[in-house]
Amino acid sequence: MDRNLALEFVRITEAASLACARYMGRGDEKAADQAAVDAMRKAFDRINIDGTVVIGEGERDEAPMLFIGEKVGKVTENSPKIDIALDPLEGTTICANGGFGALSVIAVAEQGRFLHAPDTYMEKLACGPKCAGLLSLDNTVTQNIEIASQALNKNIDELVVVVLDRPRHQDMIQEIRQTGARIQLIDDGDVSAGIATCLNDTGIDLLFGTGGAPEGVITAAALKCLGGDFWGRLKFRSEDEKQRAIKMGVKDLDKTYTRDELAQGDVMFCATGVTDGPLLSGVKTFPGQKATTHSLVLRSKTGTSRFIEATHNLKLKSDGFLK
Ligand code: FBP
Repeated sequence: MDRNLALEFVRITEAASLACARYMGRGDEKAADQAAVDAMRKAFDRINIDGTVVIGEGERDEAPMLFIGEKVGKVTENSPKIDIALDPLEGTTICANGGFGALSVIAVAEQGRFLHAPDTYMEKLACGPKCAGLLSLDNTVTQNIEIASQALNKNIDELVVVVLDRPRHQDMIQEIRQTGARIQLIDDGDVSAGIATCLNDTGIDLLFGTGGAPEGVITAAALKCLGGDFWGRLKFRSEDEKQRAIKMGVKDLDKTYTRDELAQGDVMFCATGVTDGPLLSGVKTFPGQKATTHSLVLRSKTGTSRFIEATHNLKLKSDGFLK
């Protein structure tokens, strides 16, 4: 994949973030999500790619835009054929409530390299490079914490584990507390928390718990670029979800996927903050119709991470943020 593509993709996540940040704290999840989807969809049309959305807003019958299987990009003779996993607004509720950690994200791979994850849950375990290859979803929570404590050379009470604040995690939260490790409960947004395990200054060491499966694939792609690790096991809520997964090509419903099975080959990842979070600052607006965005651009091939701060002159932008 052409390395310059990564810098093209960041324009797309910037456009989506600028668009949905207008709805921050306005209590309207649907409008925020729609603004991000519209801006992202439009921005794709400017990029010379032959792209297929493999993780998107839903299946064709439930999502009018950026649905699974949708073709995106401005196709020319030499457009690279790529698969795209995206979430125009990861953390819809966060944005609607003006909370912490909403992002716009895109991960890209060569064709056929992402797990086509159904819209179900996934049990997840994410960690930074020092714990890579050492943890397992087959271990108990206590065992993983003990291993991480040694690998990170931290006392257990210095570790911070991020967990989505959900009733389904009550037993796990109790077990983590019994080890003495600290917990950061989040309302939403496990992509940004998962990636934060790889960055030193976030204070986050591990992510445990069950969240969206599509978000799991996107997190795995980012962690691959950062040298972190990720394991995921699909969790189905109904027989219908199992049948959907089988239809999407999942053969073993109980399989534990490694990071590289979720995101194979060379991958690229871009995220732009919508609201402030552990990873990125959110969109800030200034007088004179100026706005700043903070983005992260990653490539697995070179392991380069770029943090990009951009100032946008919204008077000159015809889409996204401006009406
Ligand atoms: P959305 O962007 O679709 O709102 O997802 C937010 C999120 O918190 C994800 O980060 C997480 O993986 C998932 O929802 C958890 O699902 P649930 O809210 O059903 O527990």
